[in-house]
Amino acid sequence: MEVIIKPDAGAVGKAAARIFEDQLERKSNSVLGLTTGSTPLGLYGELATLAHANLVDFSRVTTFNLDELVGIPLDHPLSYYSYVRAKLFSRVNIPLVSTHAPNGLARDIPKHCEEYEAAIKRAGGIDLQLLGIGTDGHIGFNEPSSSLNSRTRLKPLTPEMVEENTRLFGTDKPPRYVITMGIATIVEARHCMVLALGESKARTVAAMVEGPITADCPASALQMHPHVT
Ligand code: PGA
Repeated sequence: MEVIIKPDAGAVGKAAARIFEDQLERKSNSVLGLTTGSTPLGLYGELATLAHANLVDFSRVTTFNLDELVGIPLDHPLSYYSYVRAKLFSRVNIPLVSTHAPNGLARDIPKHCEEYEAAIKRAGGIDLQLLGIGTDGHIGFNEPSSSLNSRTRLKPLTPEMVEENTRLFGTDKPPRYVITMGIATIVEARHCMVLALGESKARTVAAMVEGPITADCPASALQMHPHVT
């Protein structure tokens, strides 16, 4: 793993944007794996600035989101797709038809998950997968104890997440499940980039980089990957 330490969140966003820029310069029709959370906001802001200055071109890019809430449409304002759409897609020149996310309203979720995996393969596989990391070592919604061999599938949200959704959605029937890429799906990307900000993530990052490879820290599976930043 290549570990890059920066003094602050702004510098992390700039360094991460540079990696995206390089990727798109090398391969204009790159397939990108994208994520939500607060961590990538600096990166998405930098990419928006670069796109505004015509320094980065998303017109031939295809994207796949890492995860999505079950039970709401993709255009729901609180869907993860809407989040990435607002923070990135609406600020760069990517055709929305090239942006993909698991469908939280799929009738047959296991079949839809297989189709999502197949769509990634049909697109040629993910060139650059962006990831955040939870303090418990999760990547996507692969919480500790998730199989390192897992593929895209349905997962229950943690009680904390359900509580947060109850607050956000303002209803007593908030989303309780997500569809998430699995760990085996994630590590198939040619290049994985994990962003982590702040002292609260330091121990987790150490476990990911130097700890044992274990389902207790799902991100540790990335140690087996040939190209992780
Ligand atoms: P965060 O979430 O970017 O909001 O810290 C990361 C994650 O839980 O994957």
